[in-house]
Amino acid sequence: MAYRRAMFSPESMSRDLAAAASGAAVLELLTQCFAAAPLAYGHGTDNAADEAAWLFAAVAGVDYAEADWVDRFEAALAAPAVDLDIARMAALADQRVATRQPLAYLLGEAWFAGLRFEVTADVLVPRSPIAELIAAGYAPWVRPSEVRRVLEIGTGSGCIAIATALALPDAQVDATDVSPGALAVAQRNVARHGVVARVRLVASDLFTSATLGRYDLIVTNPPYVDAGDMASRPAEFRHEPELGLAAGADGLSIVRRLLAEAGSYLEPGGVLICEVGNSAEALQQEYATVPFTWLTFEHGGQGVFALTREQLEEHAPAIAAAVGRGSENT
Ligand SMILES: C[S@@+](CC[C@H](N)C(=O)[O-])C[C@H]1O[C@@H](n2cnc3c(N)ncnc32)[C@H](O)[C@@H]1O
Repeated sequence: MAYRRAMFSPESMSRDLAAAASGAAVLELLTQCFAAAPLAYGHGTDNAADEAAWLFAAVAGVDYAEADWVDRFEAALAAPAVDLDIARMAALADQRVATRQPLAYLLGEAWFAGLRFEVTADVLVPRSPIAELIAAGYAPWVRPSEVRRVLEIGTGSGCIAIATALALPDAQVDATDVSPGALAVAQRNVARHGVVARVRLVASDLFTSATLGRYDLIVTNPPYVDAGDMASRPAEFRHEPELGLAAGADGLSIVRRLLAEAGSYLEPGGVLICEVGNSAEALQQEYATVPFTWLTFEHGGQGVFALTREQLEEHAPAIAAAVGRGSENT
């Protein structure tokens, strides 16, 4: 069935939802609404049913961070529809379809590493596969109990820095960004998660802040989208800050600089973990002699590599040459 805008006006959506007998029937209608609309996913869910469930749960007050969230979700499904905030569910579903904004922005929240983060249009919606690495305390790349200092470049909402601080309780984390709007959101998330004493937010263009030191681990999910993918990205991704995505013609403009400078900020034995997503192929072509280790993820995701300080140093000449080629090309 083709999506027709009139079918899901807030009024008719509200009417249909109000006519539903139970929360389960409401969720089914929301799922049908999303499935029939030309939506793109990738901001926390990858299909209509999960997106509808997230909306439903958020409005029903189900908190995924609570141990009993499954019981609460099931109770909301069993509840008479009249006991639910149908008008808000309908309005959010309509906005999602009409504006193509990621649901995370409409709800003002996103989930990452099992934690809830405030998000606004100043920050990318968290979705990095690095979450899986954080859950393992970055093992085997570091010994979690021995990590004292971590640097995150390009923190956005602060999700990676905060989840890292919670996973590595003995570590101090410096988290940088060039966007004042992102740093303001990150600051609120740092406070929300009670890690003010261990996560320091720094306004810095990569490593330019004089306040940075040396680190056991540098982790980053920098902008890495190439010009072709930027031009063809779905509407949902156009609501995200371009500063968080775009990285020149080949997607490597930021990563080139990162590779050239990261070694100087790592302790001996320290590791750089960097996400480059779809630009992995371009990176490998450009740095054919550099021994990237590509990480694998049980829950999906790709394009994340690890390099030690020693590897960065050994291959410094090739890495420096690539910076020169990059500045010629962009
Ligand atoms: C892909 S987003 C990642 C945000 C967050 N770490 C996450 O995983 O959701 C990249 C972030 O890098 C920031 N950024 C862009 N250029 C930067 C630069 N030169 N130095 C530091 N941060 C930068 C953007 O503002 C954005 O917040």
